[in-house]
Amino acid sequence: MGLLGEGINEIIATTRNNAAPIGIIVKDGSLRMVLFHGTHTLENIRRDGWVVANIVHDPVIYVKTAFDDLPEDFFCNETYGDLEVQRLKDASAWIAFKTEIERESGEAAIVRLVPVAEEIIDNSIYPVNRGFNSVIEATVHGTRYVMNRDPWLKQLIDHHASLVRKCGGSREREALELLLGYIME
Ligand SMILES: Cc1cc2nc3c(=O)[nH]c(=O)nc-3n(C[C@H](O)[C@H](O)[C@H](O)COP(=O)(O)O)c2cc1C
Repeated sequence: MGLLGEGINEIIATTRNNAAPIGIIVKDGSLRMVLFHGTHTLENIRRDGWVVANIVHDPVIYVKTAFDDLPEDFFCNETYGDLEVQRLKDASAWIAFKTEIERESGEAAIVRLVPVAEEIIDNSIYPVNRGFNSVIEATVHGTRYVMNRDPWLKQLIDHHASLVRKCGGSREREALELLLGYIME
């Protein structure tokens, strides 16, 4: 399991010239992603057979990559044998995986991950911050809200927005404002 813990790990997945927040499910020692059809992450994995999990503590990156692209200079290359992958330059740690599409449904594909390389770059300690956690929650709801405008999701976003304002630091507040801009009607 290495750097990841049991349950769902919210990481920034990089594929060629692309980054998106994605959950890695760790269960019974196996690692998987469930990727919705239509995501660039799934298309790129199908084409190239690799993905990198970037462990990131900047809330702005979660919001930005959920709705938008990152400039080229946010990425750098790593080589493992004959496999060349891209990761985020500012990741605290990263794990490169070879991928295998295990199953597909009408909605999503289940992708099995086989770790091939990993590195810890920054050993800083990050105390639990409800503001950071609420940015993640609000962003998950936001990616669905832009598709269906469900008023219940808006209520959840508003709840998390108030927690970000109460418990977050300036970077969490910046991430929230960015998110609210992306989901505006
Ligand atoms: C914290 C978080 C976790 C997410 N996990 C997943 C996931 O496991 N699978 C998925 O298909 N989308 C997930 N999403 C939504 C994608 O990030 C979103 O659809 C994104 O636009 C996909 O970008 P891409 O087209 O560049 O791959 C998640 C979003 C957030 C904020």
